[in-house]
Amino acid sequence: RLKLGVLISGRGSNLQALLDAAADPAFPAEVALVLSNKSDAYGLERAAKAGVPSAVVRHKDFPDKPAFEQAMTEALEAAGVELVCLAGFMRLLSPWFVERWHDRLINIHPSLLPSFPGLDTHRRALETGVRFHGCTVHYVRTIMDQGPILVQAAVPVLPGDTEDGLAARVLEQEHRAYPMAVRLIAEGRVRVVDERAEVVGDAAVPAPVL
Ligand code: GAR
Repeated sequence: RLKLGVLISGRGSNLQALLDAAADPAFPAEVALVLSNKSDAYGLERAAKAGVPSAVVRHKDFPDKPAFEQAMTEALEAAGVELVCLAGFMRLLSPWFVERWHDRLINIHPSLLPSFPGLDTHRRALETGVRFHGCTVHYVRTIMDQGPILVQAAVPVLPGDTEDGLAARVLEQEHRAYPMAVRLIAEGRVRVVDERAEVVGDAAVPAPVL
């Protein structure tokens, strides 16, 4: 099974979705290491509960970003990680790290990219009045929240929606989309051509929630 390294900073519900998927031996990937840049991230408890190794690499403990990212890379390599999954990891990664893991580094973002890169995506979606919102799993490139798109899932924005309500409905879709994207990669069905991710065979596209 493809060895995943999951990078978290907090709650870790997307980590949980990957752990749950990997609990099925038929799932083609497994979580080899959970890495957190915060020692109090709840996701660390999820890793312990699942019996998966975890490590804390705190950015604060290093003199600069290169040293921090070098330490993360060493931990990931020591665990034999083949694909790095950002799951609510809230530190911006340098071009060095991104290139080091080129096409072996993916992220989940709570919007339909290229709309709403960055933070506060649900509030901005409501302010903008879009009728659909959702999430995106994509390969990471040096420009934040940009890179070949693997899987997207859409949800309608409902009249009277609140930021929290919308966030919860998007999060449900994140938990479907992330394991789906990992499966596609682990099955060797993704090729990046001209900065587009092409899926070979029947692409598992999440059914829109209407
Ligand atoms: C998720 O909604 C994820 O898409 C988002 O943070 C949340 C983490 O939740 N990621 C970003 O905003 C990245 N910039 P989780 O810790 O429960 O998976």
